[in-house]
Amino acid sequence: MPAKELPWVIKYRPKRISDVVDQDNAKREFIAWLNQWLRGKPDKKAALLYGPPGCGKTSLVEAAANEYNLELIEMNASDFRRRQDIERIVKIAATQMSLFGRRGKIILLDEVDGISGTADRGGLDAILDLINTTRHPVVMTANDPWDQKLRPLRDASKLIAFNRLTETVVAQVLKNICLSEGIECEPQALRYIAKLSEGDLRSAINDLEAIARGYGKVTLSLAQMLVRRRDREYTPFEALRNLFMSRYAWQAKQAVTQTNVDYETMLQWINENIPNQYTDMEDIWRAYEALSRAALYLGRIKRTASWDLLSYVFDAMGPGVALARVKSKYKWAKYNFPQRILMMAKTKQVREIRDSLAKHLASKLHVSSRLVKSEFIPILRIIFLNNPRYAARIALGYNLTENMIKYLAGPRSNEVLRYLNELKKGKALPSEETQIAITKTVKTVSEVTTTRTTRRSTRTRRRKGGRGGQTQLPF
Ligand SMILES: Nc1ncnc2c1ncn2[C@@H]1O[C@H](COP(=O)(O)OP(=O)(O)OP(=O)(O)O)[C@@H](O)[C@H]1O
Ligand SMILES: [Mg+2]
Repeated sequence: MPAKELPWVIKYRPKRISDVVDQDNAKREFIAWLNQWLRGKPDKKAALLYGPPGCGKTSLVEAAANEYNLELIEMNASDFRRRQDIERIVKIAATQMSLFGRRGKIILLDEVDGISGTADRGGLDAILDLINTTRHPVVMTANDPWDQKLRPLRDASKLIAFNRLTETVVAQVLKNICLSEGIECEPQALRYIAKLSEGDLRSAINDLEAIARGYGKVTLSLAQMLVRRRDREYTPFEALRNLFMSRYAWQAKQAVTQTNVDYETMLQWINENIPNQYTDMEDIWRAYEALSRAALYLGRIKRTASWDLLSYVFDAMGPGVALARVKSKYKWAKYNFPQRILMMAKTKQVREIRDSLAKHLASKLHVSSRLVKSEFIPILRIIFLNNPRYAARIALGYNLTENMIKYLAGPRSNEVLRYLNELKKGKALPSEETQIAITKTVKTVSEVTTTRTTRRSTRTRRRKGGRGGQTQLPF
């Protein structure tokens, strides 16, 4: 794809530190810290860059990596949860920087405030480990660093503040872009866009590009008509409506990019709703043809990381779908939630219940959750499906929740729950023999499986406070 087809936020991304406008303090502090690192003696091994969206945090790190010829190893919030991803980074971080022939590296953990408190505790700990052991500079970015959960990261880092960009600065950048693109623009229009962007240069550049590509010039009246406050992102329902109502390609493209869902999700929404909107078979055919092209590009992008194709994805799923309507008249239509996402949400729920069950039993049986998942749950399922009375006793003894019981007993959940209720009312307390029998079953399972456990999980158990030997059951 020729460079002029790239979205402007990418095309005009700072390549050198001096391209990052404003932010003089942040730049000075960051460069001083980076130089300390390169001399091998940083005061703090990590830096946390914080400030409002679109003001140059990620850009500065990328520009510095480029200028200092450092290899940028980048990770985003969604990766922080996957242990193996963090471990991969930790491995890279632990390797020596100055080995012959190797480039230095800089590790960027972008948007660490995306990590959620307790759920990602493991992720936070892994980041702290990374900071302790790293031999390369670690940079994190966040919008809000004052969140309680980020406290340990704050303590371990040099804090560097970024300011909200002023209207004047934003308007100036927009003007330079217009000059370089040869686009005619009214200064008031640029000021208007800058004002509504609230210091978010990314959104200002996107707005400018939408107007310029749609009309070839940027006037105040166009800006007033087209630019909306950025805090207003559209729900998929609104985005679909905007998309199907579009009369021009740029409107359709804007519709699919200004949503609060990502493009993959948006693709599913469109996929689900084309037949709700279009009545003519040929229109439907054309729309699906365009959508399948979008999916094809997306697949290729993911396989080959050629993100410059992303603009084609938007072209195909936006204008491609909207302009497929030749014979159908626009009418108000009711849109559906994509079935596939509903299904995924359901399986996600099931996975979550299984995970919480595994954790719950792991803490009671003093084995790893992985072991519970692979060895215990399958056996418990057999018991729950075949012997609801017995299952109820186990449920009582292990204090299982209703969801956990449903997960294990499936079609026989009601029976198990009924027996459980009776047990709870004291109608039928577990007899001593039953207690012993259950203890034996679980113990046998536990013995059979512990002999098969790897050394690692034995070590894990020992580290967790030497509770390994105690297999007292709670009933
Ligand atoms: N100070 C700046 N100088 C030059 N360009 C900038 C600056 N700030 C933002 N931009 C432009 O906006 C785009 C987004 O900026 P960047 O990714 O650095 O924002 P950010 O501060 O990391 O925001 P977020 O918190 O949303 O991640 C860049 O690609 C660049 O085109
Ligand atoms: Mg960023």
